Amino acid sequence: MSDDYLHKEYPKQFDRDAFWQQIKRTVNGKPVSEQDIQMIVDQISGALRFRPGDVLLDLGCGNAALASYLFDSISEYHGVDFSEYLVGVAREFFSIPGKTHFYCGDAVEATLEFPEASRITQVLVYGVISYLSADSVSTLLKTIGSQYGACERIFIGNVPDKKKAADFFQRRNVVDYRLDDPQSPIGVWWRADEFVVLGEACGFNVDIMTMPNDFYGAGYRFDVLMTRPV
Ligand SMILES: C[S@@+](CC[C@H](N)C(=O)[O-])C[C@H]1O[C@@H](n2cnc3c(N)ncnc32)[C@H](O)[C@@H]1O
Repeated sequence: MSDDYLHKEYPKQFDRDAFWQQIKRTVNGKPVSEQDIQMIVDQISGALRFRPGDVLLDLGCGNAALASYLFDSISEYHGVDFSEYLVGVAREFFSIPGKTHFYCGDAVEATLEFPEASRITQVLVYGVISYLSADSVSTLLKTIGSQYGACERIFIGNVPDKKKAADFFQRRNVVDYRLDDPQSPIGVWWRADEFVVLGEACGFNVDIMTMPNDFYGAGYRFDVLMTRPV
């Protein structure tokens, strides 16, 4: 399954307001519970510690249904996604004039060229990092480290944990799998310490976080918080 299908074609089969199905935030095809969504929002908000005046850059924002839970906590929002369909849904359902800005494009390229880089205070990358190659992730973090001087915190959420991969696939009776393919359904699996090395090389302190045990995706994923030392 290519990234074009998974991210750009797959969402089109669902109603325009079937937000969680469009981005596969589902269990057995059904949208995850509101409680699970709230757990994600709490994890992001606790990590990014929003203050009035914050300007958030959301890379791979999808349809922005998740981001919409954060809008009250920030002053300005910039969401980038390479799926034209999902950006269209974001614009249709979640636009707040003067506050939200949606762009269609590649997350890494947009970060390299973003004209308002110096104004961004936090970066969110939720459920997206596994669909980028390791080289792209490195470029992304180097760019934020060097060109986003006001960016204090980066939250990279829902990263597939390489240490848990064998167990994950065994439970599903899958014997033939790859852990390094950004175009596979789950994407690239990472070890938490790989993010520590990458983040520190770009000048950030790095904390690895996990979700509560009752979260639907708990067990084989982790989150990464990068903080610029003061
Ligand atoms: C699982 S969805 C997550 C959406 C949103 N961040 C959320 O958590 O609700 C993954 C998103 O990443 C986007 N994506 C994947 N690779 C991308 C890339 N290279 N550039 C921009 N968007 C990308 C897809 O189009 C999709 O919307």
